[in-house]
Order: sequence, then structure tokens, then C-alpha cells
Amino acid sequence: MSDIRCIGIATGGGDAPGLNAVIRAATKAAILKHNWKVIGIPDGFDGLIWPEKSFELTLERVSGILPRGGTILGTSNRGNPFCYKSEENGQEVARDISDEVIANAQKLGIDAIITIGGDGSQKIGYELFQKGVKIVGVPKTIDNDLSATELTFGFDTALHTVSDAIDKIHTTAASHHRVMVVEVMGRDCGWIALAGGISGGAHIILIPEIPFCIHKVCEFIARREKSGKRFTIVVVAEGIKLPAELKQIAHGGAVGHLVGDAIALISHKEVRVSVLGHIQRGGSPSPYDRVLATRFGVAAVDLVAGGQFGKMVALRAGSIVGVEMATAIGRLKTVERDGELVRTARAVGIGFGD
Ligand code: F6P
Repeated sequence: MSDIRCIGIATGGGDAPGLNAVIRAATKAAILKHNWKVIGIPDGFDGLIWPEKSFELTLERVSGILPRGGTILGTSNRGNPFCYKSEENGQEVARDISDEVIANAQKLGIDAIITIGGDGSQKIGYELFQKGVKIVGVPKTIDNDLSATELTFGFDTALHTVSDAIDKIHTTAASHHRVMVVEVMGRDCGWIALAGGISGGAHIILIPEIPFCIHKVCEFIARREKSGKRFTIVVVAEGIKLPAELKQIAHGGAVGHLVGDAIALISHKEVRVSVLGHIQRGGSPSPYDRVLATRFGVAAVDLVAGGQFGKMVALRAGSIVGVEMATAIGRLKTVERDGELVRTARAVGIGFGD
């Protein structure tokens, strides 16, 4: 028999479509399967600094949130209770307020916490677990860069946004015979660029994992021109490693603009740049993400009920499993340079500028 009576739910780090679906699923499973009380902790662990801001998540409160983007709990990608930054006498100071946060969770009557977040939030969750807090993690990021899980919710929705944008860019690129550069998110990994570029029918994809040369990119564009293709779509991951020739002219702005400027200079083609930015994180989750988020939410409650603390839910070989947070954090899942997805892209003529 579980001694859990009340759980807290927090969302931390950058938002991702599907967060509300997890909150809804975990709340419903906690109430309907176990009759637990559920407390929503606002703005990540920041919410436990001001416990009076927390509120009860009831069946009514989570009703209708499944298709909503963002998170009804709010989030923060700054608050870390082990290194909490505040201003004192005009100076920024960092303090460890984890004991205060733990005491506040106890005051609220919270027996266990489900933390929904990316690598940073899972690391904080694991540190709290090491201090005795009953924590279960749910991974989230549109970047799909957590090695412990085959997929994170939010990624599929981001791909819908990216491929829709590239579809639209196609028609204007073809009409004006231009090179169109599309910069996408993904932090240090190229998953969004690679999968979004393939699904959108991009011609060149630049990702952090594959070093590129801007002259090779321009040669590729010239070869397309020669074969009668008068427009080219180049997808650029925000985390690309700049080659020496681009480092020299780097201006500190979006890398998409840097790549676009260099292509215009070398190839004398008309170039336009679109930086997709945060629209990739917004909007209603795709059906796939809604299902994955719901499975993660229910599985997280099952882990709490089974006393499996210090674990994170993950998708492995199509099934939801619990993995040790200790082994799940700090390990990025990068694109394999010679992996199947890159080979597939090359087989359909996509260039990587290498
Ligand atoms: O990790 C998700 C992500 O959207 C990255 O792709 C991007 O680099 C980053 O967050 C942007 O974060 P912020 O919300 O701080 O601009």
C-alpha cells in the first residue's frame, strides 16, 4: 500500500506543446485511480519559494487543457533552488535555498513531486531526490535531445510547424528564384533541422553534428542552378558549428542570417532568411504528442504509486518504462553523422555542405 496522499506537479525549463496534456493525465490518474490530492506548483521550483501561490489541480481545473499549448502552471528556465539568483544591494548573489523549498513542499502536504522538464529540470529533481524528496521525472523538450528516451513530446508538434513553414517557403522561393534560408531551433542537436528538413523537402540541411563548408553549400546551389532548379531551400540548425570562414564575419546575430549573408556574397544569388524561433514551441500539440504526453503522465503516477522514486518515464522500443534519473541526466542524444536518417537524406539528394 502506498503512503501517498498528495502529489505536486511542476513544469520547468522552456515550454513544449504537450505539457498541459501531461498535467491533465497525471492529475486525472492521481484522482481517478488513487484518490490523491494534486497540487499545481507554479513556475517550476520557483513555485515552492512562494508556496501560497500553489493551487489545487482538480478534475474541473484540468478539464479542456488537453489541446492547449504552453503550461497552465507556468514555467521558468532560470530558477534553480540549489543556485538561486537574486539581487542584494544591487549585486547578483546565488544561494542554495533547497532546504526552504523542501520545507515548503512539506508545509503544503506534498508527499511526492512529478517534475516535467528537460535535462536541467531533471537534474534539479535528481538533486532534490538525493536530499530525500520523493521525485518522479517526465522528460520534455522540442529538441528531442535526451538520450534516455527515444522521443520527447513537443518534438512532433515542432516538426509540424517546421515542415509547414518550409512548404510555404517553397512556393515563394520557386516564384522568385531565390535561396531561402530557414533557421530552426534544437540547441546543440540537429534533430529538428534534420527531420523538419526531410519532411519539408529542403535541399540543404546544416546541423551541429556535421561540419560544413560554406563554399560547398554554394557549389551545391550552383549545381542545382545548372540542372534548371533556380531556387534552393537551406535549413540551418541554430546550434551549427561555424566554420573558420564564417567565424571571421560572425556578427553575433542569428546564424541563419550569417549563412544567408555568406551565400549571397559568394553565389551572387538573391537570398532571404526566416528565423522560425519560438513559434516552434507554441500552439496545440499534435495528436502524437497528446498521446505520448498522456502516456507519460499516467506512467509517472504509476511510478509514484509503486514507490519508484528517482526515476523518469521514457519511451523505449515503443513502451513506456521507468529509467534511473541518475543515468538519464547530462547525456545528450546527438544525430549520428552516418546514421540511418542522415543516409536517407543523402540518398534523396539532400546536401549537408560537407
Ligand atoms: O530547449 C528548447 C529551446 O526551444 C531550444 O530549442 C532553444 O535554443 C531554447 O529552448 C530557447 O530558449 P528561450 O526560451 O530561453 O529563448
